[in-house]
This record gives sequence, C-alpha cells and structure tokens, in this order.
Amino acid sequence: MPTIAIVGAGPGLGSSLGKIFGRHSYDVALVSRSKDNLATLAAGLAEHGVIAEGFAADVADPASLTAALEAATARFGRIDVLEFSPYVGLVQVFPAEVIVDNLAPAIQEILHNTLADQGIYAGVVAVNAMISDNAPDGYPAIAPDSLAQHYWDLHTQRGQAELVLPA
Ligand SMILES: NC(=O)c1ccc[n+]([C@@H]2O[C@H](COP(=O)([O-])OP(=O)(O)OC[C@H]3O[C@@H](n4cnc5c(N)ncnc54)[C@H](OP(=O)(O)O)[C@@H]3O)[C@@H](O)[C@H]2O)c1
Repeated sequence: MPTIAIVGAGPGLGSSLGKIFGRHSYDVALVSRSKDNLATLAAGLAEHGVIAEGFAADVADPASLTAALEAATARFGRIDVLEFSPYVGLVQVFPAEVIVDNLAPAIQEILHNTLADQGIYAGVVAVNAMISDNAPDGYPAIAPDSLAQHYWDLHTQRGQAELVLPA
C-alpha cells in the first residue's frame, strides 16, 4: 500500500487529508506531539475504513521527527507522500515585511524544480483563510475536506509549485 505521512496532523486539515488519501487506498502515518491527539485521530480515521497510526514527535526537535518517520517507515514499509503542516498559529506577511525567514515560496519554487528532475513532486499550499466548517460570518474560510481535495489534485496532477487559496 502507498503511505502518506501527515506531519502536524490534527482534527482540521490533518483529518481531512487522512480521509481523502485513505479513500484512495493510502495508509496514513500521523505525526504530532500528543499521543492522545494521535490516538483520537487514528480512531476517527478507522471509522472511515482508513488504516492510520500515530507517531509522536515535535517538529522543533529534528531527532524526534526523524525517529517518528523511521518508525512509520518500519510500520508501513514506505512513505510515498510527505505532508507538512503543523499548526503554529495564524501568520500574515505583507510584501514590505519579507525577511529571510518568510521567503518560503521562493525556496519552494527552487525545491519544486530541483526535485522534479528526480521524479519527486514538491508543492506548497498557502491558505489565506480560516480552515473551518463553521467560520464566523464575514471571515474568508475553506472547509477542511475541500482543502484536502486540493491537496489530492496537486498530488495527482504534480504540476504546480504553489497553490494560493482562496484563488
Ligand atoms: N486553522 C486555520 O484557520 C488555518 C488558516 C490558515 C492556515 N492554516 C495552516 O494550515 C495547516 C493546517 O491547520 P489546521 O488548523 O487544519 O491543523 P490540524 O491539521 O487540525 O492540526 C495541526 C496539528 O499540528 C500539531 N502541531 C503543532 N505544533 C507541532 C509541533 N511542534 N510538532 C508536531 N506537531 C505539531 C498539533 O497537534 P499536537 O498538539 O498534538 O502537536 C495540531 O493538532 C497549518 O499549517 C496551519 O498553520 C490554518
């Protein structure tokens, strides 16, 4: 079975990604800091018929992340898709405020082009909206299941280095 590792998996996007990739016969390795959260998430996905297992790690601790991904590889045999979206709060960057730390899109373009030569697709999704099914009136919002569908489309089409939502 192909496997997706969702790093920074939680009840919003993480759960929806687990559902859509699981529906397409992927096994799902869930990574976040809390074992309890991971157990709840894996149990929720199991109710949708998805084989999912949690591997606790803090992305701020590279050794723990490496250990978690190695454990996931040992459990599922392989990792085909790596998704990285730990929730660290809402951040907005305006053009006049660009600094080295927020140059991610430029780096992403280079990564995308470099890895394409090796048959690896790298894409980034910039979400300028709340991820929620129940956003307050007047807030730009995207439902987690709709967002996960965009990820699946990027994964299958493999063309776009960056997707900005809402369009
Ligand atoms: N929610 C929004 O409205 C919104 C809007 C725009 C963009 N985004 C971005 O979209 C992505 C998905 O957001 P979401 O709210 O749907 O998230 P989610 O998939 O519901 O959950 C993300 C998970 O990240 C985990 N996490 C946080 N810090 C971590 C760390 N240091 N190491 C490992 N795991 C960590 C948390 O679990 P633990 O506590 O168990 O570690 C959390 O449950 C995030 O990158 C977020 O920044 C969110």
